[in-house]
Amino acid sequence: MASITIRNLDDSIKERLRLRAAANGRSMEEEVRIILADLGASSLPVAPASSIRQHSGSLSGRRILLIIGGGIAAYKCLDLIRRLRERGAQVRPVLTGAAEEFVTPLAVGALAADKVFTELFSREDEQDVGHIRLSREADLIVVAPATADLMAKMATGLANDLASAVLLATDKPVLVAPAMNPRMWDHPATKRNRATLEKDGVRFVGPNRGEMAESGESGSGRMAEPLEIAAAIEKLLDRSAKPLQGKTIVMTSGPTHEAIDPVRYIANRSSGKQGHAIAAALARFGATVRLVSGPVTIPDPEGVGVIHVESAREMRDAVEQLLPADAAIMVAAVADWRMAEEAGEKIKKKAGEKAPRLQMVENPDILAGVGHSKLRPHLVIGFAAETQDVLANAQRKLDKKGADWIIANDVSHATGVMGGDRNSVRIVTRSGVEEWPDMSKEEVAERLAAKIAAALESVEV
Ligand code: C5P
Repeated sequence: MASITIRNLDDSIKERLRLRAAANGRSMEEEVRIILADLGASSLPVAPASSIRQHSGSLSGRRILLIIGGGIAAYKCLDLIRRLRERGAQVRPVLTGAAEEFVTPLAVGALAADKVFTELFSREDEQDVGHIRLSREADLIVVAPATADLMAKMATGLANDLASAVLLATDKPVLVAPAMNPRMWDHPATKRNRATLEKDGVRFVGPNRGEMAESGESGSGRMAEPLEIAAAIEKLLDRSAKPLQGKTIVMTSGPTHEAIDPVRYIANRSSGKQGHAIAAALARFGATVRLVSGPVTIPDPEGVGVIHVESAREMRDAVEQLLPADAAIMVAAVADWRMAEEAGEKIKKKAGEKAPRLQMVENPDILAGVGHSKLRPHLVIGFAAETQDVLANAQRKLDKKGADWIIANDVSHATGVMGGDRNSVRIVTRSGVEEWPDMSKEEVAERLAAKIAAALESVEV
C-alpha cells in the first residue's frame, strides 16, 4: 500500500486541503481519503461515516480557556467563540491589555456567555477563581491570536499579566494560533521562540499565507481561520480519535522477581503504575497493546492484552514471542541480576553457620535485545530510572540499547516517583532532550501516547 505524508505535500496544496478539511469539520487525513474516493478510486478505504466528526456537540462539555492576544486578527475570535459554542464547548475568555484595543470585553463576554478575565491583580477575580485555578479548570488553552510578543513571553516563561501567568501556571495542553506580520513571523527571534514552544509541547495551528490587514503586505502570518482552529481543537480533544488504529505495540511494565529459593525472591519498588498507564493510553488511541507485566498489585489496564510473568527471563521470552511489532516500549524495572542457581529447597538458617552468600549472574537485557533484533520495531523506547547523572546515563543508553528514545526519570527516594502517582520525565533522543513538567503518571502516559502516535503517523491510502 502506498503511503502519503501530508507534511510532504506542496505548501499551496496543503493550504487548500487544510481549508477544505476545516470547512467540512474533518481531519486532513480524512479529507484526503474522501477526495480520493470521490475520484473513483473505489477500492480505497474510505473513513466510515461514523468516523467523520459532526459539528454539533463534538466539543460537548469540553472547557476551553481562550486567550485573546492583541492583534487585528482578534476580531476573528468572536467568530471562533461562536463556532466553539455551537460545538458544545464552554469558552472562558482571557483578554490581554492589547487585545482590549481590538475587541471589547463586552462583545467577547456576550458571545462566550461567561465572565471575561483581563487582570492579574484583580482582587475580585483572584478571590473568585484565581489565575492558577483558571489555568487548571480547562481541558485546553487556546491562544488566538498569538502575537509575536505573546509567543516570546511564553517561550521565556514571563508571567507579568494574566494571560502569561495563566500560560505559565497551566498543566493542560496549549494550542497556539499565531498572527503577525510576515517579517515578524520570519524573524530569527520568532523562529527560536516557536522552536522552544514546540519543544515544550505547545501545538500550533497556522499561520496561513495570504494578504495581511496592512495594505500591500502578504506572506505567512495570517491567523488560521476560525473553522480551522475549531477543527484543530476538535482533533486535540477528540476522545474517539484512534490515531494508533492498526498499530501493534509491545510493552513491559512492573518489576521482576528473581527467585532465591521457593519462598524468597529479589524484587524492586516498581509498582507498574507508569507502564500500565501508558499501555491504557495507547489502547485508548486505538493501538493493539501486548503488555508483559511483572508481579504488580494494580489491575490489568483496560483494553490491553496482558501476559503475567515473574522473572526477567520469562519476560524476555514473552517479549520475543510478541515481535514483530510497530513499536516497543520497555518500562519494566527488570532486575539486573538473578541467582546463579536457584535453591530447590528453602535455605535453612542453621545455628552457628554464617549467612549465605548469594552468588549472582547478569540477567538478559530485554530492551537491548529488542533494539538490536532483526525484528526491531520501527520505534523502540526505553526508560532510564536513575538516581544520579540522569541525563548523561540516558544519553549513553540510546546507543547501548539500540533505542530511539530514552525516557529519563529521577527515582531518588525524595522524588517519590517509584510507587508514587506523579512523574517528571525527560525524553532523550538523538536530536535533543525534551523536558516535561511534573505531572501525574496518567498525564505522562497521555502525552507520550500522542507523541508516539505522531512518530508513527503516516496516512495509508
Ligand atoms: O540499564 P537500565 O536498567 O537502566 O535500563 C533501563 C531500561 O532498560 C528500561 O527501559 C528497562 O525496561 C530496560 N531493561 C530491560 N532489561 C534489563 C534491564 C533493563 O529491558 N535486563
